[in-house]
Amino acid sequence: LRGDEIIVVSNREPYIHERTAEGQIKINRPASGLVTAVEPVMRACSGIWIAHGSGSADRDTVDKLDQVAVPPEDPSYQLKRVWLSEEEEAGYYFGFANEGLWPLCHIAHVRPVFRASDWEHYRAVNQRFADAVVSAARTEDPVVLVQDYHFALVPRMVREKLPRATIITFWHIPWPNSESFSICPWRSEIVDGLLGSTILGFHTPYHCKHFTETVDHLLEANIEQEHSTITYGGHQTLVKNYPISIAWPEGAMPPVEACRQELRERIGVGASHLIAIGVDRFDYTKGLIERVSAVAVMLERHPDMIGRFSLVQVAAPTRSSLEEYRTFHERMDKLVQDVNARFGQPGYQPVHLFATHHDAVTLQRYYRAADACMVTSLHDGMNLVCKEFIAARDDERGVLLLSRFAGAADELPDALIINPYSIEDTADALHEALTMSEAEQRDRMRSLRSTVQHNNVYLWAADMLVDAARTRLRERIEA
Ligand code: G6P
Repeated sequence: LRGDEIIVVSNREPYIHERTAEGQIKINRPASGLVTAVEPVMRACSGIWIAHGSGSADRDTVDKLDQVAVPPEDPSYQLKRVWLSEEEEAGYYFGFANEGLWPLCHIAHVRPVFRASDWEHYRAVNQRFADAVVSAARTEDPVVLVQDYHFALVPRMVREKLPRATIITFWHIPWPNSESFSICPWRSEIVDGLLGSTILGFHTPYHCKHFTETVDHLLEANIEQEHSTITYGGHQTLVKNYPISIAWPEGAMPPVEACRQELRERIGVGASHLIAIGVDRFDYTKGLIERVSAVAVMLERHPDMIGRFSLVQVAAPTRSSLEEYRTFHERMDKLVQDVNARFGQPGYQPVHLFATHHDAVTLQRYYRAADACMVTSLHDGMNLVCKEFIAARDDERGVLLLSRFAGAADELPDALIINPYSIEDTADALHEALTMSEAEQRDRMRSLRSTVQHNNVYLWAADMLVDAARTRLRERIEA
């Protein structure tokens, strides 16, 4: 694919220009697993990334084509912004994508809401992004990388205008079983849209299987299990799992001792205080209530840990104009208050909730400062926090607790794999983590590190691009 034109489409943009109260322009990086993974790949490939321009100063920083060269410190690709009206954002992003598809695909027992008006906006906004791809394309056969559940209809829409494009779509969240998916009134349209792709990627074989079964129930398609392909309307799509990852960090990391001291100072405790770290968007799929409840049970079962252990939970605000997220935030605040009231002492809080955005440098320091990291998602496509924790631990210390319902659990058996729905088991695993010998921590961490270092995000992208190149070659030979 060397020399071919690469176009990425996602809803979330990798760089958000915001106007500060003093009138300055500040650049923010979003809390998004999708952006964390795709951005280093784009830096390496160059090309154009089309996304929703969501920042208050985004319009002030683009050229006539609505483009800005990024990364700001060393530009290597173009970010092209698409502007959405408040109404479009409410219907397409908050409504259909985040009140409909998000809970539909995550089994977190939050009921999906489907409104015909949201669907109309979703369709119309998908068309706008597909049009943006077509007008950005300089060739008739670009490689288009469509990202996530915001754009299920884009592959088909692009295919109609650019029949020779290579369209690689990656679904960053789980795909539920066929019966669950059938709740969606526009299930056939969604699946049809995705089958415009050349390649459709999921994190796990399980999600691929669910998708294929969904197609089988909904459409007259030819499914070839052996080759993992689906042929529909004369077009073939390869449906395959590509576990996403992170870019393995290069260069020296800050000294562990300094990181430990800094975080302990922030929460006002001494050098030997034990800390578990949690880093998530403030989302109901992340199992935050279960995590804090497990901390409470652990303290109840092991009173010697009271005054000696705290959970530091970073929770980046997200989608907060949705009722479901606001209620969840309130429930969580209340639980944290209760647990702190029950086990707290003067100068000691068992749970510290930092509900603000933290930058990547600070998070790396926190990961290095912690004795354990808790990932308790009720359901998660992959989860990259666990991989970032592992990557930050070149001292080979620290224990990872990882939900079996995160895609990453398949790849990382040397974590302490937990079922977040069992508060007692999670509490026991937390205690095990906090009392684990250094030798066992090292053995587990070494194995986790070698897996993540090898299965990095460049391998994820390369696997998809190699499969795409093969298909392209075959199509060119056949033509
Ligand atoms: C998940 C989704 C991404 C999304 C991210 C942050 O990781 O798969 O597509 O960007 O959440 O959510 P937000 O709605 O803020 O983009």
